[in-house]
Amino acid sequence: MKGSDMKKVLAFSLMLIAILCAAACKSEESESITAPATDVSGTQSDEEALTSFDSQEASSSAEDIKASDAEDTPSETPTPTPTPFPELTLYLRDLFAEHGMKCGTAITSTNITFEKSAELIDKQFNSITLGNGMKPDAIINKTESIKAGDIVVKFPMDTVNMLDWAKEHGMALRGHTLIWHEQTPSWIFYEDFDTSKSLVSREVMLSRMESFIRQVFEEIEARGYSDMLYAYDVANECVLETGELRDTKWRQVIGDDYLKYAFTYARKYAPEHVDLYYNDYNEQQKTVAFKNLIETLKDDNGNYLLDGIGLQAHLYTNDSLMLYLVSLDKLAETGLKLQLTELDICLGSYNNYAKASEYNFKLQAKMYMDLIGGIFERVDAGTLNMDAVTIWGVTDGLSWRAGGSPLLFDNNYQPKPSFYGVMQMKDEAGITW
Ligand code: GLA
Repeated sequence: MKGSDMKKVLAFSLMLIAILCAAACKSEESESITAPATDVSGTQSDEEALTSFDSQEASSSAEDIKASDAEDTPSETPTPTPTPFPELTLYLRDLFAEHGMKCGTAITSTNITFEKSAELIDKQFNSITLGNGMKPDAIINKTESIKAGDIVVKFPMDTVNMLDWAKEHGMALRGHTLIWHEQTPSWIFYEDFDTSKSLVSREVMLSRMESFIRQVFEEIEARGYSDMLYAYDVANECVLETGELRDTKWRQVIGDDYLKYAFTYARKYAPEHVDLYYNDYNEQQKTVAFKNLIETLKDDNGNYLLDGIGLQAHLYTNDSLMLYLVSLDKLAETGLKLQLTELDICLGSYNNYAKASEYNFKLQAKMYMDLIGGIFERVDAGTLNMDAVTIWGVTDGLSWRAGGSPLLFDNNYQPKPSFYGVMQMKDEAGITW
């Protein structure tokens, strides 16, 4: 082959290689464009779809919009960022204030870490309960207790941060809770705080109980939270549907009168303006049990040792609202204050959540509307002494009963029909019957 021919062949080969390379790259590119990015096979359960919808799908669709904008729009044209949080200008706390009441929520630090969530809580609510932050296992310090030979109360940083946030945002505070069978370290009931030793005597436990309650109120005072505190769940979930006292360590060690002591100590150390509550669940089934228990909590002059009854109000859309309101009326006859302290209404029934469908959300909205409407009517008529309703959480996904979608806001902080139900806005809630 001549030198010039040789050059031609070489040039031709190089060209061929270049063409083949380009074709190969193109086909890789088109494969990656057409390959499905997500599994759209529909294998998610309703519950998974529900819990993942708000948090993941919404954010990925926002990302999708940004990505396609970036491809199609010349770079010099600014792309409007979609705002997933349109301003809500209706406020729960304003509506409750019209009836002389507060509207509260329960928080963990997650709720106030995210700006949008913190902003929503700040705007909608004016009372805070710490979901876990003031429970015995959060505030009793084991090392210090062993050192001191007495229960030692020390609010951890997380608790202080949440309380500081609540104070800065002008929130009122519900204390929750002192005497409970759960989230209470078992070692506080034993000799030397050692569970391998024997349970302490009634006298020692009474002294530990008094010391515990005193220190909680001292800590609240020392850290500047006394003024915001307006109610305290001194005791939680102590009675069974049968009317019997629950068999707890407090009861085993001190005896059946342990609640009388708890309320007496709380009255001794709590600021005078703070209402003391007995708090429990299944109130519609436990109405008589509640009433009987409360009758035992009186001083020698026959005066109640407590100011109010806390009704947790963990309800279901299948519950009978009529029965619930009858039970409210019965308990109101005690003359004590009542509060709904942990309100949430799951779709469906106990152990059998219903689907998160449009229809079920409307049923839920109707139940919220009738419950809160019924309370407003009674409060306005003076037959019910209720100064606050607390909803147990903010968005469905972070609820302790997320599977039942029980709250007022979805995971994008958007109001659900249930929000409009509480606001007594029938049309906006889509309740057309
Ligand atoms: C009970 C307690 C609350 C909370 C809920 C579950 O109702 O009183 O503090 O622990 O259970 O979240």
